[in-house]
Amino acid sequence: MSTPRTALFLLATGLLLAAHAHAQAPVAENGPSEIAQLLELKGDAARGKVVFASCADCHRKDASGRANGVFPRLAGQYASVLMKQLSDIRAGRRNNASMLGLASSLSLADIADVAAYLQSLPVSERTGKGPGAAVTRGRQLYERDCAMCHGGKGEGDAAKFYPMIAAQHYRYLLREVTSIRDGDRGNSDPAMVRMVKNYDAVDIEAVADFMSQLPPPKP
Ligand code: HEC
Ligand code: HEC
Repeated sequence: MSTPRTALFLLATGLLLAAHAHAQAPVAENGPSEIAQLLELKGDAARGKVVFASCADCHRKDASGRANGVFPRLAGQYASVLMKQLSDIRAGRRNNASMLGLASSLSLADIADVAAYLQSLPVSERTGKGPGAAVTRGRQLYERDCAMCHGGKGEGDAAKFYPMIAAQHYRYLLREVTSIRDGDRGNSDPAMVRMVKNYDAVDIEAVADFMSQLPPPKP
């Protein structure tokens, strides 16, 4: 244990483990992190509208996203969730190559402002719905495995960074749940990964179908 080589090996292993733990840990528990700094800021929705001009090509002018599922609805999502996701994306904790450059160029104030603006927008009713065929099965899975975090009506929990998943696009939900199961999203809450790890494609379709039919939660 005392040779320099062993010491170096232990140090390297420790650093790797620390880096791994960092990548996996929910940001909210990361101590004095960017997200903590963001939560201190009071977002200015009017300024956020200006920041959002650089996002509208993809997420649409009204931030309703696209039914093909490529771009999620952001309108009405909690500011805390939006800030955490933006912070995760620019730190590379959440994989999103198409937004990495833009997200990295934002100041902390830009992020807080755009999040305040998006939260203030009404949740669109025009989001893509699933086929509706599997909602009974989907409801069972959702109530057993998801509702404790995402809420009985899909309303999420702003204080805990749980996204509102009601009235989100079916095809986006389908893709995200698959990425979460397969470890491709990067930043997924480990407790959620445990819930979906045994889901097959039929289960994922059912739960996404159910979630996509949930109407916008009343504020
Ligand atoms: C080049 C297209 C593009 C632009 C421009 C863009 N985004 Fe995105 N954004 C995406 C894609 C694609 C995703 C979904 C990635 C995935 O599937 O994980 C996404 C996801 C997000 C998410 C995560 C949403 C969630 O529900 O978890 C947030 C927040 C977000 N974008 C905010 C913004 C903001 C704010 C801007 C402008 C500053 C912006 N985006 C500009 C493509 C874009
Ligand atoms: C322990 C709490 C927890 C449980 C249980 C949970 N989730 Fe999540 N979920 C989260 C958190 C937190 C996020 C935001 C991403 C992150 O930081 O992990 C998230 C994100 C998501 C997203 C992406 C939303 C977006 O806007 O990008 C989907 C879809 C989702 N969860 C579906 C599910 C489904 C389906 C289940 C049940 C099978 C489930 N979750 C169970 C905490 C949970």
